Amino acid sequence: MKTKAAVLWNLNEPWKVEEVELGDPVAGEVRVKLAASGLCHSDEHLVTGDIPAALPVIGGHEGAGIVDAVGPGVTSVQEGDHVVLGFIPSCGRCRMCSTGRQNLCDLGAMLMGGVALADQTHRFKTASGQGVGTMCLLGTFSPYTVVHESSVIKIEDDIPLDKAALVGCGVTTGWGSAVYAAEVQPGDTVVVVGIGGIGANVVQGAKLAGARYIVAVDPVEFKREQAQAFGATHTAESIDKAFSLVNDITWGQLADKAIITTGVATGDLIAPTMSLVSKGGRVVVTAVGPFLQSDVKLSLFELTLFQKELRGSIFGSANPRADIPKLLSLYRDGLLKLDELVTRTYTLEQVNEGYQDMRDGKNIRGVIMYD
Ligand SMILES: NC(=O)c1ccc[n+]([C@@H]2O[C@H](COP(=O)([O-])OP(=O)(O)OC[C@H]3O[C@@H](n4cnc5c(N)ncnc54)[C@H](O)[C@@H]3O)[C@@H](O)[C@H]2O)c1
Ligand SMILES: [Zn+2]
Ligand SMILES: [Zn+2]
Repeated sequence: MKTKAAVLWNLNEPWKVEEVELGDPVAGEVRVKLAASGLCHSDEHLVTGDIPAALPVIGGHEGAGIVDAVGPGVTSVQEGDHVVLGFIPSCGRCRMCSTGRQNLCDLGAMLMGGVALADQTHRFKTASGQGVGTMCLLGTFSPYTVVHESSVIKIEDDIPLDKAALVGCGVTTGWGSAVYAAEVQPGDTVVVVGIGGIGANVVQGAKLAGARYIVAVDPVEFKREQAQAFGATHTAESIDKAFSLVNDITWGQLADKAIITTGVATGDLIAPTMSLVSKGGRVVVTAVGPFLQSDVKLSLFELTLFQKELRGSIFGSANPRADIPKLLSLYRDGLLKLDELVTRTYTLEQVNEGYQDMRDGKNIRGVIMYD
């Protein structure tokens, strides 16, 4: 079928919305008519080259919609089902999936290769017939996409799809970074560095896990205000200012957990964030650093002798098949805010405007809406 998509042709260029040809689902695949796609910072990493991907690529990995066709052999969903697309596929059978770590599924090795899991060919082609890859095997910057069954999670029909879309990446990643990766405990003091679509959900996760103090750090005033609406008890403009604040409110004990969710993870953030946490404290790095960056400032003395921990986390260390429906139930029960995460909506044609607003610090989440 003919549809349109936002394509990245070269690094540091705007997304180009153009007509594309979408092939039918082959065995194991599903075509989804998308309702919405979130504008996550990870697609910006494609543009800057921080995340290397085969180009050209259709962006977008935070989507939800309705199954519109299924290929042979698909058993977990059927036409008409409402689904969230998980940005990491989970096969259910590999060593990681079968030990409760679906976010580390072996299929993740194919995530940025651009070709379909089912047959290693391109499902999307340009008008001139050139194959185009998809971000995280999804490509939600298109009103229709064809994805592997392992990327599709069926959800209940009463959940608004444009809100459910955010649970495909930002919500689960943020919430899980607090609840699973940081293992926030009741009474903890938690610092969240960077309040975008991910950080706002770290705040929500920390709150639901029972944190006593949640300190939101962001240079942008609007972000600090928003963080309070999601449950932050205190805010600071910088990690330095957060240090004196945390030192005061904890009577010198410092934070139990700190989570880094800045737009880009850089090596110079690690030492100051490690200094925010107490003896036995933990820092989680959820923000993505540039592929080629390996320099980090870190006090190994403090790491060892204060028994601190530094841990990475992908998809909030969550299990997409269990956690996406679980988070949507929390939304239904009023324990998780999704509506409030959406600051502005855009058409697909406005995708570059949406990313400019993200760079300008205007959005918690911008969302592309399809008809
Ligand atoms: N690990 C994963 O599975 C995963 C999944 C999704 C996104 N991510 C990554 O998480 C990061 C955040 O994504 P997002 O969509 O929320 O981004 P975003 O651009 O919406 O938000 C980032 C926020 O960080 C703030 N910030 C920048 N520098 C800062 C600093 N030095 N101190 C404090 N705040 C600072 C910005 O003002 C902004 O509010 C990105 O690196 C993204 O690629 C990781
Ligand atoms: Zn994302
Ligand atoms: Zn697997």
